[in-house]
Amino acid sequence: MAWVSSQATAQALRSVIKNALQASLPDGDVTVEATRQGDACRIAVRDRGLGMSQDVLARAGEPFFTTKPPGEGMGLGLFLTRVIVERSGGQLELRSELGVGTTAIVAMQVASSGAPAANGRRSS
Ligand SMILES: Nc1ncnc2c1ncn2[C@@H]1O[C@H](COP(=O)(O)OP(=O)(O)O)[C@@H](O)[C@H]1O
Ligand SMILES: [Mg+2]
Repeated sequence: MAWVSSQATAQALRSVIKNALQASLPDGDVTVEATRQGDACRIAVRDRGLGMSQDVLARAGEPFFTTKPPGEGMGLGLFLTRVIVERSGGQLELRSELGVGTTAIVAMQVASSGAPAANGRRSS
């Protein structure tokens, strides 16, 4: 388990939100719900878009796996999100049903102390 920067965390979340928006109709709602219990933070990004088949769901997160046309997806989003989230000791969970929608759940620890200062040194 390691400390992960806020930039990396933001990148991980942007990636799942982008997926949700890409899977949705232009006026489709994407909801982001964050709950915190002590040091545990859970962020659920939900869409009611295309959803994933069992086959796609099983492969989502493999490096370079994408169902999107060239230019729209490189297939690295979920892979990198999972790397960042798991590096911090957290988990990424995907729930999806074809034609119904998808929920991506990011569970991470929130550092209350011991995070490096912006200059990279540890604050005391
Ligand atoms: N919210 C979602 N709704 C439907 N399919 C999704 C969603 N998120 C991910 N996927 C599927 O997982 C694949 C991999 O996602 P990702 O790793 O972010 O790569 P990319 O977005 O570049 O294709 C996508 O191509 C898509 O098939
Ligand atoms: Mg993506």
